[in-house]
Order: sequence, then C-alpha cells, then structure tokens
Amino acid sequence: MEEVQRKQALELEEADEATIWSRRDFLSLTAWGGVLAFLATVSVAFLRFMFPRVLFEPSPRFDAGRPDTYQPGTVGERFKQSHRTWIVRYEDGSFFAMLAICTHLGCTPNWIAADRKYKCPCHGSGYYVDGFNYEGPAPRPMDRVKITLSPEGDLLVDKSIVYVMRPGGDPDEQYPESLLRV
Ligand code: FES
Repeated sequence: MEEVQRKQALELEEADEATIWSRRDFLSLTAWGGVLAFLATVSVAFLRFMFPRVLFEPSPRFDAGRPDTYQPGTVGERFKQSHRTWIVRYEDGSFFAMLAICTHLGCTPNWIAADRKYKCPCHGSGYYVDGFNYEGPAPRPMDRVKITLSPEGDLLVDKSIVYVMRPGGDPDEQYPESLLRV
C-alpha cells in the first residue's frame, strides 16, 4: 500500500515537472514581471522629471534696430509677424511701440498706409495712427508697450511692460511715458 502511494506521488511529481509551466516557474515569472513593471514606472517618472512639460515662450524683450532706420511719419511693420508689434515714428521723430491686437476680440489689424489707419479684418474696427479707435466695435485704443534706447543706441522693446489704454482718452496723453524721444 505504502509502495503504491510512493509510486503515485512520484508519478505526480514527474507529471508536474513535465509540464511547460511548473508552479515554481509561474511564481518566478510573476515576481520578475512585478520587478519589470516597477522599473518601467520608475523610468517613466524619471523621464517626466528630466523633461518637464514647460512652455518655452519667446522673450518679451527684443532689439528693434537703429532709430535712423525708421522714417519719421511711418508705421514700422518689421516686427509685426515675429512679435506682433508695430514700431511707430511720429513726424517729430518720437517713437512708440504698439501691440497689433484689436481691442474688440483680439484679431490682428492691418496698417493701411494709404488711408493712414489700422483696420481690423474681423469686424471692421478702425484706429488712427496713434492707436485711437474711431469706428467699429473696438471699445478702446490699442495698447502700447515699453520702448527705450539701449546703451549702444538701439531701440529696445519690452512687451512685459504694457500700457493698457482706457476708452475715450488720447493714447499719447494717457501714457506720455510710452513715447520715446530720440
Ligand atoms: S476683433 Fe477686431 S473688430 Fe472684432
């Protein structure tokens, strides 16, 4: 009887070893799977740490070149595409920098040199050369930003300093400091 039992146990053990996945293999594989999953999670967390989701904005400051490259009485469009800013020079030689952003809903107006006005293509707002709104739904003049001279004598525009215009007021009078006299 005892002999029979030993034989059956032996047969069972042999049958167990003969299968492709023994219980020991299965446990070992599960453990390795856990280790690999842990390492993958740690690697992803490390990569997220090394490459955070940061938005790299262009600098708010830019060099607008030599003052004598701007003719008096003109609107400079050189930086409209890249910085959405006009460099305007009055007849008396003074400068101001103005954001090309319509104060209605934020479209980009166009400078119409022949008519001496800015015209917004979205809903038809019109602005005089100094940025004052005179037609269409725009509620106030366009905003200006800081313009100064660098030690080397170049025009420097700083878009981090914004002169926000109020409705109805002459832009030059609202912010005399937005004008640069050279
Ligand atoms: S966005 Fe310029 S008129 Fe509406």
